[in-house]
Amino acid sequence: MCGIVGYTGPREAYPIIIKGLKRLEYRGYDSTGVALQNGGLKVYKKKGKVAELEDAIVGKDLHAHVGIGHTRWATHGEPSDRNAHPHQSASGKLAMIHNGIIENYNQLKQELINKGYTFHSDTDTEVLLNFIEEIRNNNQCDLEEAVRVALKRVTGAYVILLLDEDKPDTIIAARKGSPLVIGVGKGEHFLGSDASPMLEYTKEVVYVNDYELAIITPDQLILKNLGNEKITPYVQKLDLELAAIEKGGYDHFMLKEIFEQPQTIYDCLRGRLDAEAGTITMSGIQQYAEQIMNANRIVMIACGTSWHAGLVAEYIFEELCRINVEVEYASEFRYRNPVISKGDVIIAISQSGETADTLVAIENAKSKGAIILGVVNVVGSSIARTSHAGAYTHAGPEIGVASTKAFTAQLAVLTMIALKIGYIKGSISQDRYMHLLKELNEVPEKVAWTLKHSDNIKKLAEKYKDAHDFLYLGRGYNFPVALEGALKLKEISYIHAEGYPAAEMKHGPIALVDENLPVVFVATKDTYHEKVVSNMQEIKARKGKVISVITEGDELSASLSNDVMIVPEADEIVAPMLSVVPLQLLAYYIGVAKQLDVDKPRNLAKSVTVE
Ligand code: M6R
Repeated sequence: MCGIVGYTGPREAYPIIIKGLKRLEYRGYDSTGVALQNGGLKVYKKKGKVAELEDAIVGKDLHAHVGIGHTRWATHGEPSDRNAHPHQSASGKLAMIHNGIIENYNQLKQELINKGYTFHSDTDTEVLLNFIEEIRNNNQCDLEEAVRVALKRVTGAYVILLLDEDKPDTIIAARKGSPLVIGVGKGEHFLGSDASPMLEYTKEVVYVNDYELAIITPDQLILKNLGNEKITPYVQKLDLELAAIEKGGYDHFMLKEIFEQPQTIYDCLRGRLDAEAGTITMSGIQQYAEQIMNANRIVMIACGTSWHAGLVAEYIFEELCRINVEVEYASEFRYRNPVISKGDVIIAISQSGETADTLVAIENAKSKGAIILGVVNVVGSSIARTSHAGAYTHAGPEIGVASTKAFTAQLAVLTMIALKIGYIKGSISQDRYMHLLKELNEVPEKVAWTLKHSDNIKKLAEKYKDAHDFLYLGRGYNFPVALEGALKLKEISYIHAEGYPAAEMKHGPIALVDENLPVVFVATKDTYHEKVVSNMQEIKARKGKVISVITEGDELSASLSNDVMIVPEADEIVAPMLSVVPLQLLAYYIGVAKQLDVDKPRNLAKSVTVE
């Protein structure tokens, strides 16, 4: 969480930083700030989104060729002007922005207070900054050395960018646990939490690793470890176009990303799945096929929507591969003492590839000998780099805070892995395998069909937008889809929603049902369909409002429902990629009907890099 941007070079820094911060707002938008080298350090910061800072500083002299900027997701200290980054050191000579959490900041703060320091914010960042300045003064060393010494005392996660008034062309950066990309231009350098702030200027980037420190001037990028040894920067070519991170005529990124799904699922299958030839080409998986096939168990580790993808995959892997699968919340798994044996297979699922809990959980499992396979969207992200192998989801940049296209791409990848392993293992018949390849191949087209038949969902949103609670129910493959539908609604519309296995309803939640409660059934035609229809009847008998996602032509379910959303017929293994789409749209349109900021819902951030 938190977005950071930096620039040093011949261009005007402020517009680059502001544009970059707008692209990174998905990482947090509690406050915004910039520090510019303009004949001395000039710091401007304000509670709220980037546009609010822009408005507040109209007319100021913002001319500078070097600067840093920050968009915050608050951890230590409420969202406010005083807690906004950049922070300035006691002398006023240093300015710093930070993404992460300094866990031992209290102890460091006490040490500094004992030395006479006072603080102007509640943040851990101001503590670290003054700690660095104290070391510089005390050890009579340069800033680079002071940063190195300070970071050896720090526990927690960080990316920091520092400006020093006395070195006006230099930015010092360091990373542990939070992402940092440096764009390499001709006589200029760009910094960002991801590559989006630098896309129109350069395609050459360096992903900084943990425990690395960078000293950056317009002409030079020096990379070192904390032991002061130089490291040769590994410059990579970005495969990302500007259009991919713009709204392209849609009102919101979320809507654009929902409508991109036929293409993103197609991109995910392309080059891998050949339904005619009966092949799935995934080199990372092929390399570990033997170990996956013979694993005692597979553990899926993820958070949020990615965790829901893991739940769907659990059903699919158990069905097709006959391997025991467990699905774990990364945040729980990392703090338990889980039994991991050498040869256990971990599948880490993450859109951003930067989720702190997932990252630490897989590092723990890796240290115990587990094989780590990453199913990740962001190329070059931390989880992708720490995994032994895996498969990218190729959904393209997902900017809306609510995950949509990443979820369906995760399902597409996980289904391909299960099919590949099941086929090699012989746990699926040839006929079923060929049938499922064909079904998977048809998903992009069927998602496009679903989107075309979704006009009524906007009207449903108007009808149900004032409900206080929603219940989402589904069985089997559609149970995790119910959870995902409920999560989408909560995030985007702030309406309380719960997802449940439809049969569990009788064990408690049915007490909530009355004429005011909308109950969304994910009721596509599958093995469990008759049972779900019975559950619908039970809700109807208690006057609940039944809204159902049903298969085209399912008259019985339609007759039991107050409202329906339709998807085309599909095998139950691929059905979640279809049935989730109307639920994404329902959440989106309810959020819009309530005039909420659906791309940046309150309190959330896209990439959760704190635990
Ligand atoms: O980047 P990740 O997939 O690791 O993120 C996991 C969750 O933070 C994420 O899915 C979150 O729940 C989304 N806001 C859901 O829409």
